Amino acid sequence: MARRKKIYEGKAKILYEGPEPGTIVQYFKDDATAFNAEKKDVIDGKGVLNNRLSEYFMTGLNQIGVPTHFIRRLNMREQLVRNCEIVPLEIIVRNYAAGSLSKRLGIAEGTQLPRPIIEYCYKDDALGDPLVSEEHIAAFGWASQQDMDDILSLALRVNDFMSGVMLAVGIRLVDFKIEIGRVFEGDFQRLIVADEISPDSCRLWDIETGQKLDKDVFRRDLGNLADAYSEVARRLGVLPKSNVAKPTLIN
Ligand code: TMP
Ligand code: ASP
Repeated sequence: MARRKKIYEGKAKILYEGPEPGTIVQYFKDDATAFNAEKKDVIDGKGVLNNRLSEYFMTGLNQIGVPTHFIRRLNMREQLVRNCEIVPLEIIVRNYAAGSLSKRLGIAEGTQLPRPIIEYCYKDDALGDPLVSEEHIAAFGWASQQDMDDILSLALRVNDFMSGVMLAVGIRLVDFKIEIGRVFEGDFQRLIVADEISPDSCRLWDIETGQKLDKDVFRRDLGNLADAYSEVARRLGVLPKSNVAKPTLIN
């Protein structure tokens, strides 16, 4: 069998050429990084959990008519996704103050925001993904005004969906990051939710206790990351408790 072609290797995922034109295989690694990869570790089972959780969220979004790149899960660590051209922006949606917003503006973590706040970062690891304004985005041509209208609408729909799904299992969606891809259909281009949606890219706090169930557990050395992600998966019914994060299941 011919070796498949690696297209790109990122910090948490590897992309391979897919079996049909226009498709990509997205492989979830166990690597965890923070602070632009200054902090690194390998967390047994993280890739398996994120593959399943991203499948769960993306499938739900597809079902309510929010287009995503997700086609189907292939195995424990891989999913088939639509090939798309990633808009070079990280789209952050915040419902409560935390992380860099709290630091930048001096607002206590956990403060409820008057409305969801959307921020954009320019995707460039060498620059540390700097915060940018819509002025920068327009002036440098990273996205058109129409794209930005569509991105805002997608981001708010993802926020409503994710907030509801999490609330139902006693988890507060504090904030999250998504990436958006362009797909071309004849003369038209369409924007879809791409990359992943997982506890790597969200802040998730238990509503009762405030316990963190996301990558801040790793960023801030708060405990075992796989246990936190397993708890999210268990509450959502994504994996039965006994199957979660066992390295023996990884293929
Ligand atoms: P921040 O408060 O550090 O700016 O993070 C905001 C949200 O974005 C949080 O849910 C974590 C997520 N995020 C990523 O997914 N990737 C990143 O590289 C960073 C910095 C944050
Ligand atoms: N994903 C980023 C990194 O590796 C930052 C983060 O999520 O905190 O370095």
